[in-house]
Formats: sequence, C-alpha cells, structure tokens
Amino acid sequence: MPLNPSDPLTSPFLSFAISAVREAGETQRAAFRGEYEVHKKGVIDLVTDVDLAIERHFRERVAATFPDHVVLGEEYGAPSGSDAARPCWIFDPIDGTTNFTHGVPIFCASLALEIDGILRVGAVYDPNRDELFAAERGKGAWLNGEPLRVSSTSNLRDALLVTGFPYSVQVDGADLLSLFARFITQSRAVRRLGSAAIDVCYVAAGRMDGFWEEGLGAWDIAAGALILEEAGGRVTDLDGSPFVLRSGRLLATNGHLHDVMLATIADHRADRRRNRTD
Ligand code: IPD
Ligand code: CA
Ligand code: CA
Repeated sequence: MPLNPSDPLTSPFLSFAISAVREAGETQRAAFRGEYEVHKKGVIDLVTDVDLAIERHFRERVAATFPDHVVLGEEYGAPSGSDAARPCWIFDPIDGTTNFTHGVPIFCASLALEIDGILRVGAVYDPNRDELFAAERGKGAWLNGEPLRVSSTSNLRDALLVTGFPYSVQVDGADLLSLFARFITQSRAVRRLGSAAIDVCYVAAGRMDGFWEEGLGAWDIAAGALILEEAGGRVTDLDGSPFVLRSGRLLATNGHLHDVMLATIADHRADRRRNRTD
C-alpha cells in the first residue's frame, strides 16, 4: 500500500505531502497551549504566528523540492497570473485556528496537489490523535496506513452530520442557520468540530455520514475532497452540480446519503424563495 513515505512505491508527491503535513502537525503540537501572538484578520477570524511560520516554512520546502510548482496557502495567498497553470500545492497550515487558540485539541494541517485542475494527492494530519489521512487519485485513501471506507448510512434520521460556518456568519448567517436547523431536526445529530478538513476526513472514515458548508477556502477542503472520493464517498456543489474547488461550497457524503441531503437543501432553498415572494 503506497503510504509509507520511505516505501519505493509511494509517489514522490504523496511522500512529500505526508512529510509536510506531519512536520506542520509537529510544529502545531509543540506550540499548542504555549506562548504565541494572535492577530485578528476580521472580527472573529484569527491567525497566529504559528499559522504564519508553518506556511512560510512550507513555501520554502516547495521552492527547494519542486521549484516549478506554486503554492496556494491560506495566509500568503494564491499564485499570480501565468503561474496558475503550474502544479499547485494547496495548503492550510492550521485548519481549526479558533480551536487552536482556545486550547481545544481539534485542528490539523491539510495539503493537496492540484495538476491541470485535478487533485492528485491529499494529506491531512491531526497531531492530537496522531491520525494521518492520505489519498492518491485512483489508488485509494488510508488512515495511518489502513484503507478508508465510508459508512453505509442511507437514512437521514440515522445520520451523524457535520458542518461549519464561514467567518461572515455573524453578519449574514440567517440563511445558513435555517439550513442548519433543518438538518439538526431531521438527522440524528449535527456536529460543528471547527476544522473542515477533519470533518470531511471523518466522513471518509465512516465516523460521520455527511458534511455541508459554504464560504470555504480551497485550502479547507482540497485534501479532504480527494480523500473522501477515494474512500468511496461523493462530493458535489450544494445543488448537486459538480464540485468546483474554488467555489467555496461543498456537499460531501458517504454517497448513500447524498441525494437525501441534496433534497433537504433544495427544500430549504424553495422555502426561502417562497418566503421572499410572500
Ligand atoms: C475554518 C475551519 C472551520 C470552517 C471555516 C474555516 P480555519 O478554517 O475549517 O471548521 O467552518 O469555514 O474557515 O480558519 O480554522 O483555517
Ligand atoms: Ca481552514
Ligand atoms: Ca487555517
């Protein structure tokens, strides 16, 4: 199974992704509950010196290892113009920064490689549980070397769902909250863990059955989307159209629950339209 970075069968891209997220996770773990600076990017959107240092170091590693590749990272931005056509590493140095700064041990590093618009490898490392989720397109997905498989839940009432909210929720959250209300009253439960990458990996691992969110960054979900697909799950936009990484919208399920969740979202949208015209 191509998962051990020192295994000759492991692709150099997957080896690099695994090594980079592990290294980022070690830095997170060393800094967690310690002293570091916290800055505000918005009213409730935080960034720490740890996020910034991890991403800077990662960019140096990419430049040294794959000089013709580019990086899209949460803290230092996207490649410009013509560089957009080059292989792109999509990186979130800490997914779950709010948890991190509050001492809540739910966060990870998330990394994917996109070549010609297609996600090729993905890796998510949770340093608190020492869990490494990884996938390579067409080859499978693994958690600490064991194959990942989604759940078989097909009934919303039996489903454990997970979601998150963009930092703009405080100003325009009414619509997001009414969809949340619909899912929380129709499912077994809805969790809000605070790390979209972990959320989607938990669907891939069969721990959760479905995830939805809008207003996401590509770095939140690039790795998770590939890991979930390779674990047998399904990813689309919230209206069922094909998943577009930079749209910020994702419905990610075990596959069996997908149409049911799409129908719930469609009902919610129809009610909203009716209410607007009443
Ligand atoms: C956030 C987390 C959260 C999700 C937000 C993301 P960050 O990422 O993934 O679960 O709901 O949409 O922005 O800011 O912790 O990297
Ligand atoms: Ca994130
Ligand atoms: Ca982040």
